[in-house]
Amino acid sequence: MTVTIVGSQLGDEGKGGIVDVFGDDADVVVRYQGGDNAGHTVVHEGEEYKLSLVPSGAIRGKVNVLGNGCVVNPRTLFDEIDALRERGLDPDVRVAERAHVILPYHRLLDGIEEEVKSEDDDEIGTTGRGIGPTYEDKAGRRGVRVGDLLDAEVLRERLEYAVPQKRALVEDVFGLDVADLDDPDALDVDALYDEFSEYGERLAAEGMTVNAGSYLAERMADGANVMLEGAQGTILDIDHGNYPYVTSSNPTAGGACTGTGLSPGVVGDGEVIGIVKAYLSRVGSGPMPTELGGVPGDTPGYDGDPEDPQTEREELAVYIRDEGHEYGTVTGRPRRVGWLDVPMLRHAARANGFTGLAVNHVDTLAGLDEVKVGHTYTLDGEELRTMPATTEQWGECEANLRTFDGWEATDWAAVAAEGYDALPENARTYLEYLEAELDAPVYAVGVGPGRSETVVRENPF
Ligand code: IMP
Repeated sequence: MTVTIVGSQLGDEGKGGIVDVFGDDADVVVRYQGGDNAGHTVVHEGEEYKLSLVPSGAIRGKVNVLGNGCVVNPRTLFDEIDALRERGLDPDVRVAERAHVILPYHRLLDGIEEEVKSEDDDEIGTTGRGIGPTYEDKAGRRGVRVGDLLDAEVLRERLEYAVPQKRALVEDVFGLDVADLDDPDALDVDALYDEFSEYGERLAAEGMTVNAGSYLAERMADGANVMLEGAQGTILDIDHGNYPYVTSSNPTAGGACTGTGLSPGVVGDGEVIGIVKAYLSRVGSGPMPTELGGVPGDTPGYDGDPEDPQTEREELAVYIRDEGHEYGTVTGRPRRVGWLDVPMLRHAARANGFTGLAVNHVDTLAGLDEVKVGHTYTLDGEELRTMPATTEQWGECEANLRTFDGWEATDWAAVAAEGYDALPENARTYLEYLEAELDAPVYAVGVGPGRSETVVRENPF
């Protein structure tokens, strides 16, 4: 069977930890979208591993597949594999031949376009990894696929077509001089060809490429359990998210089909687990109706100091940010934080069809007298139970808060060992409210970063 893991908010819900816990029963862990924009931290036997591309199953000896819906930067891929090997692990990573390759010019263009947009305060706040430009080339049918790296002639042909266009963009549209760039080789066909054909040779030598859909179908026919690991989250989905403040792929459950080659029937036959953080965080720009305290440049109209709170709300933001370690895994940026946004979660539950929930960071909120949630929104005098479709409307929504009694910090590892009923009663009331609103049972509750700090109520496999 398959278990699909989807972020229900704005990414950083702690998907890696849940993949890690439920992944014990998986034979194969597959990422179906995104690239090295997806920071995940896994703690295993006291060791912390930070990965941005390789699935977290690599730490536990699973077969890991980067599906066709992913965009793969071979520099990051091999850096991460080599770093894991240096730490004594032997990661088994396969890459879909149909996945697209992030080339240095994609990162270059990601940076240039953000810079240009920032002149009007319109930047997305991307991770700068070249994700958007790579998906643009995929949709524009001028991309380089992983399979192309293995065929020197095809690779050269693709580069000879694409690179002059990118050079013209940089020079004629953005008015920059290629010679002045930090990495002028990013626009040099020969340099790109030399570096990337070598990656192709390494992929071939290590037998790393697969036809993802048929590989996975064959494994499943042999009885393998497959975990489909979404990166980012529902509100960063290019279709169902908060456009244009989104990533360029589909983290929602439909992406698990198109991004792997498994059919909707196969994915729908399995479980779809929504990962929820018990509050909300956001990296980058865009509305956030339940925001507590801002981060300059990301929060519209906010130019305060995120570390020097001026109001009670900002103090709460600083408290939650520090307790929850809300700093980007990939970028190190402080994240914006706010109360849980339930209209957002209702939207996510519908778009993904959650069959179960995993709620993380319940420990982070411990010690607060009161815990609030945005239960509904008010927009133009009307109460809304779910998110409106446009960013402008969402930005005008006012959250109607509902207040819950807080819960005390406790020995969370002991709670995890004892089980769900050992959770503080007020925390259980909060979780049961979520189950009722999202019409899905809570399968797991995260009460700390380690694997032993997860309360498992039901294993989806
Ligand atoms: P991109 O994916 O680098 O193009 O960035 C687009 C948007 O998605 C930006 O707002 C990023 O901050 C956000 N984003 C991308 N990856 C992640 C992630 O792993 N966690 C949280 N936000 C992310």
